Amino acid sequence: MEQTQSYIQSKKEEFLNQLIDLLKIPSVSADPAYANDVKKTAQFLKNEFNRIGLDNVEIFSTAGHPIVYAEKIIDNNLPTVLVYGHYDVQPADPIDLWDSPPFEPVVKKTEIHPQGAIFARGACDDKGQMFMHVKAVEAMLQANELPCNVKFMIEGEEEVGSENLETFIKANINKLKADVILVSDTGMIANDVPSITTGLRGLSYVEVEVTGPNRDLHSGLYGGAVANPINILTKMIASLHNEHNHITIPNFYDKVVELSDEERAEMAKAPFNENDYCKALNIDETYGEDGYSTIERATIRPTLDVNGIWGGYTGEGAKTVIASKAYAKISMRLVPNQNSDEITKLFKTHFEAIAPKSVKVKVTPHHGGEPSVTEITSTEYKAASLALEESFGKKPIPVRSGGSIPIVAMFESVLGLKTILMGFGLDSDAIHSPNEHYGLFNYYKGIETIPLFYKHYAKLKSYT
Ligand code: BES
Ligand code: MN
Ligand code: MN
Repeated sequence: MEQTQSYIQSKKEEFLNQLIDLLKIPSVSADPAYANDVKKTAQFLKNEFNRIGLDNVEIFSTAGHPIVYAEKIIDNNLPTVLVYGHYDVQPADPIDLWDSPPFEPVVKKTEIHPQGAIFARGACDDKGQMFMHVKAVEAMLQANELPCNVKFMIEGEEEVGSENLETFIKANINKLKADVILVSDTGMIANDVPSITTGLRGLSYVEVEVTGPNRDLHSGLYGGAVANPINILTKMIASLHNEHNHITIPNFYDKVVELSDEERAEMAKAPFNENDYCKALNIDETYGEDGYSTIERATIRPTLDVNGIWGGYTGEGAKTVIASKAYAKISMRLVPNQNSDEITKLFKTHFEAIAPKSVKVKVTPHHGGEPSVTEITSTEYKAASLALEESFGKKPIPVRSGGSIPIVAMFESVLGLKTILMGFGLDSDAIHSPNEHYGLFNYYKGIETIPLFYKHYAKLKSYT
């Protein structure tokens, strides 16, 4: 991979400028107002795939946003790597909290990124990380060092649940035939502590609506005699955790796989500093389920969180009112072997059961997804481990992540393929938040490391 690596070194500036161009297109999948920009982004990728010399480059339209496909088959007897990523981004709100406009990328130095980081929505999640794969393959092609076949499948709906990707995969099982799926859409522990993500949590997401009286009421004339939907909703939500911060929904934990003491001890070896963690978030203490460490709470344990809550009067000054309705969006992160449909049902049954007769409750499920875990004994894990070790000079640590990429479980159930989650982001990169950024070190390191995965994977595969 020497030619590949020197090509990468010679193209650093160009690679950065291309990413900047990609980040300028506001491909917000959740908001229909950006539909055209989402299309433009797919077109950008198509052009790029053609430019670097991939074959069968195609934009597949779906019921939602398009999927971009491309491939390079050099020899049918060689293994095939299927690269998955997403070019859609989260909405940029709240815009006021950004130090620079979310779709006008700027490079700035930070304490954690002394070489500079690129600030823009999608910089880390996932345009920056997805684009590393395009650049890595470009380099291998230019250097004539691509050691196996490669296919790209880049979607525009990851941030809204990947529902149309599921349909696409089921309809294109042959086209997507591969040996492993390679994804950079997660993180690592620190720039000098490489790690590989070995698990993702699943997700159940519901919206609840509590209705009291048939209209908003004067809180003096009716207050005290009529159920206030906001009071009731907050009380119901508060009751979903007990004093040990366990979730109180009956049967919620039934299928949760508990880790063995050995597995927990292994997890605890990964470097983590509670003080630094608190300091970075400006909190005095962490908070969570009794009996579990901070890392465990955030990765191997299921959770329930209110993501948004609204109702009543929130404008200027005071308005004395009892609102007719109150709402909340609630997410539950799931771990093996919980199932999102089952958990959503348990939630709905319980939430309806705990509502007093004085209100009506409606529970509407949103998209969900299943958790996934990968073995560290597989050929693909070994290849990833060797690649990171070669590139960082340190053996990577396997870590379970708390985030969700529901399509990974689907890859396994529909395509029978394991996914390697080789992410280069940092938790402090503020994905989904204002001032999202991605370190230049991370961007370049990713581009340099990916070809090493191909090298090791092709080599290990040739023995098996
Ligand atoms: N890339 C993230 C998931 C992620 C980030 C996993 C960091 C591990 C480490 C992905 O784009 C994402 O945001 N997923 C959503 C779920 C999706 C269904 C909207 C999530 O985790 O909230
Ligand atoms: Mn992502
Ligand atoms: Mn995301």
